[in-house]
Amino acid sequence: MPEVFRRPRLAAELAGRLLRPGVLDEGLRSGLFLSGLRRTGKTTFLRTDLVPELEAQGALVIYVDLWSDTKASPAALVQAAVRQTLSQLVTPSSPLLSRLRRIKGLDLGGMGFRFGFQLDQLGEAGGVTLAQAFTEVVDQSGGDVVLIIDEVQQAITTEEGNQMLLALKATRDAINPRPETPGHFLFLGTGSHRALVSELTARRNQAFAGATSLPYPVLDQAYVRHVLERLRAEGMELLPSEESAWNSFQTLGHRPEEFLRALGQLRLSTTSGLAPDQLLPVIAATLRGSAADLELLKVEQIGGLATAIFDRVARSEGPARGIFSAEAALSYGEAIGREVRVEEIQPVVNELLAANVLMRLGHGLYGVTDPFVQEIWQERQR
Ligand SMILES: Nc1ncnc2c1ncn2[C@@H]1O[C@H](COP(=O)(O)OP(=O)(O)O)[C@@H](O)[C@H]1O
Ligand SMILES: [Mg+2]
Repeated sequence: MPEVFRRPRLAAELAGRLLRPGVLDEGLRSGLFLSGLRRTGKTTFLRTDLVPELEAQGALVIYVDLWSDTKASPAALVQAAVRQTLSQLVTPSSPLLSRLRRIKGLDLGGMGFRFGFQLDQLGEAGGVTLAQAFTEVVDQSGGDVVLIIDEVQQAITTEEGNQMLLALKATRDAINPRPETPGHFLFLGTGSHRALVSELTARRNQAFAGATSLPYPVLDQAYVRHVLERLRAEGMELLPSEESAWNSFQTLGHRPEEFLRALGQLRLSTTSGLAPDQLLPVIAATLRGSAADLELLKVEQIGGLATAIFDRVARSEGPARGIFSAEAALSYGEAIGREVRVEEIQPVVNELLAANVLMRLGHGLYGVTDPFVQEIWQERQR
């Protein structure tokens, strides 16, 4: 495990804006969405910095990552996490309750929370709704509850997931407007697909229309400096300048793993006679493309038709439509030099979806799952 560069100030600021919003931040109570590219440290920031800070400030936090199991339904993952937390709340000796007692001085007289429903009724037809369950949690804890859904855009790819988002909106609307509410229900979603995440807040028919959508704050120059200092402490000679390292970190899309890989290659090639500041940009430029290669290789392995379909989707700015049309079949045929029948398309698209290189964005609409892969593809076709 590489050492994590902590960002306590950023976490404190964000937690404060969520839990005690000023006039201009009150919109955050409708929901906050952070979007940033894959592998830039969103999950790490949430888990190591933001969740502990929210807890230290007295909130009860539930965290779910919808990419932790892409085969499970988003709704099922959220329900499992909520149930898990509720079951800790009813257990007097659970670590969660001890923490709430300590931080908030909550006095339950040696008991756990007592809910007016059975936990296994949660989310069942005719059972208890998320709104009812969270209202009881807010009222009994006397404070804020924050639900964090990592890779939330995964929820809008299925009908069930959309229903869940509507249920969360209903939860917010059941709890927050109460004049005497002892706490609020706050929702934080993050996603690796900016277009999809903004869609969640921008479209009027989406559950979280009107919520706030912000770019995830990527790691900055302080992180780069921290890495260089550690390398210096380890005795690495021929280090790049901070400026050159920072430029390369940006070339690599602010991805820590790629950055460390580039520095690793730099260390191995110091016999080339070139200065680190000359070498590092070259290494970074090469690595930038290879980050996408793994994904593109999956497409190639599915076959030529897959590549032609992927090309059509990747070239389209915004969601691609009409990928099953006769006109599309004709253009795929031209690309691969044989006739393509319309009924051949669906099974190949299914394979691309299963490989998680393409994703369904709505009825008849498709997009590339990783915008970075799409960007590299477009760069190469120019
Ligand atoms: N603050 C950090 N300091 C050091 N390494 C980090 C930091 N944040 C992320 N990383 C590394 O970058 C990689 C991607 O991080 P992750 O949090 O999974 O990104 P995301 O959730 O945006 O896809 C991981 O290997 C992680 O260890
Ligand atoms: Mg993540």
